[in-house]
Amino acid sequence: MEVVIVPDAAAGGELIAEAMAALLRRKPDAVLGVATGSTPLPVYRALEAKVRAGAVEVGRARIAQLDEYVGLPADHPESYRSVLRKEVLEPLGINAEAFLGPDGTAEDVAAACASYEAALTAAGGVDLQLLGIGTDGHIGFNEPCSSLASRTRIKTLTEQTRVDNARFFDDDIDQVPHHVITQGIGTILDARHLVLLATGAGKAEAVAATVEGPVASVCPASALQLHPHATVVVDEAAASKLRLADYFRHAYANKPAWQGI
Ligand code: F6R
Repeated sequence: MEVVIVPDAAAGGELIAEAMAALLRRKPDAVLGVATGSTPLPVYRALEAKVRAGAVEVGRARIAQLDEYVGLPADHPESYRSVLRKEVLEPLGINAEAFLGPDGTAEDVAAACASYEAALTAAGGVDLQLLGIGTDGHIGFNEPCSSLASRTRIKTLTEQTRVDNARFFDDDIDQVPHHVITQGIGTILDARHLVLLATGAGKAEAVAATVEGPVASVCPASALQLHPHATVVVDEAAASKLRLADYFRHAYANKPAWQGI
């Protein structure tokens, strides 16, 4: 996998937004897989700036959700559908019809998962999947020891993830759902390009395990090592535990510009 060390979150956001814009210029109806949480916000703001500047058209783009809480009403401000409407669809001016996501309110969760898998397939698959990473190494909400071949299904959040996410729920862990629907690791690996963004020292250990550790389900993000086109974009703090940081800097500095990420 390629590791790109950037000075800060804004530079990571700009780099990834430019990769998304380049994809949309080549393929205007591309499917962009999007994550929620704090980390991807600089990407969405940088992409919004490009759209406003007329540097890219998103009128035919499609947006696919990575994961969703189970049991939160769809209009709850912290349902990931609501968050993506506010952070991605509305600012970019993308219609709700172009949005693909699992139904976290479904009575039959297994059927909702199967129907989301079918919708992704019918859309032609995800072209570029943006990922964050949990402090425990999760991608999507594939918590440690998730099958590396898993498909979209229900998962139970770890206590650590619920503590990490309580900040979105008035710092009240009791409000954080226990269950989620998440694209599986196998589903994520089907995307044509995976781009993981990690910022801050709190992610340094998970990043080192992802990039330099063994491929092991105990660190779900390590599955990116199996993907032919995976890019890990990290700021200096998140890169601080990488043994090969100097090599990654050297390789990226000497990469032909036309290659992009
Ligand atoms: C959210 C998701 C999660 C987050 C991860 C990091 O859709 O898939 O894997 O990316 O929990 O969250 P932040 O960015 O808030 O640290």
